[in-house]
Amino acid sequence: MRLTPEQLAQFDRDGYLFFPGLFTPQETAVLNSAVPELYSRREAYNVREKGSDAVRTNFAAHMYSEPFARLARHPRMVEPVMDLFKEQVYMHQFKINGKMAFEGDVWQWHQDYGTWKNDDLMPTERAMNVAIFLDDVNAYNGPLMFIPGSHKRGVIDAKHDLTTTSYPLWTVDNELIAKLVERAGGKQGGIVSPQGPAGSMIVFHSCLVHASASNLSPWNRVSVYLSLCAVSNHIQRARRPEYIAHRDFTPISCLPDDCLVRDYPVELPWKDGVPASALQTSDTPFTDRKLAA
Ligand code: SIN
Ligand code: MN
Repeated sequence: MRLTPEQLAQFDRDGYLFFPGLFTPQETAVLNSAVPELYSRREAYNVREKGSDAVRTNFAAHMYSEPFARLARHPRMVEPVMDLFKEQVYMHQFKINGKMAFEGDVWQWHQDYGTWKNDDLMPTERAMNVAIFLDDVNAYNGPLMFIPGSHKRGVIDAKHDLTTTSYPLWTVDNELIAKLVERAGGKQGGIVSPQGPAGSMIVFHSCLVHASASNLSPWNRVSVYLSLCAVSNHIQRARRPEYIAHRDFTPISCLPDDCLVRDYPVELPWKDGVPASALQTSDTPFTDRKLAA
């Protein structure tokens, strides 16, 4: 799937593109049916909500689950991002966020690039987020919210919030959020929240400021978040475990468009468990390590 000049211009202006119902119910069902077993695993890659057993984020399923390994190579997801970067991409991060009925906690206002820069030493913002809804998303189950055009501000100062939720995040303070929302149109479009059926996809800039409220509804809001980084922009440090920030910078090769509903072989390098090396972390940048060796 390639982007039109109009879509490229819209992305440049707003910082995101929304594709309602891009994946069929049959394709979404293949992914959705794999989630409960993945969430039931007692593994470090399942981060649970604060004070609850509900999974907030499952990391790196594409390394050990066949349906998600195929999604990670899906041309409807990868090609638009390559169009935007005019370069090949690798998988920097892969998450299945639960935002489960009654239990899903907030995601504070943040830019993803803030975390990738501060924690992973990603050189520039040439990395993109893709969200794929596995459940219908509505006004009540904690939809993602964006401040349109906020990516134009580049990297914004952030503080490391270690306490609000179970997952540390570099967050933007409320005063600046209020200013950005006002500048984006205030009550007339200063915050938007793309909502639609399971199978919808959003592509959004890594500097786009976003958040989501808690899910007090009786409806799960499971979504996959794939973060694709231009190969030339790969991270420079392994401060976080590999299941959170990947260290294999091989460009993604796409499978055919019907890969979610037909069998194509995919490698599952972590199907027998996460290797010990993936849990090792270091504060020293890769280049300095080479110099020291
Ligand atoms: C994120 O910002 O990475 C996740 C937001 C959400 O799941 O609502
Ligand atoms: Mn985010």
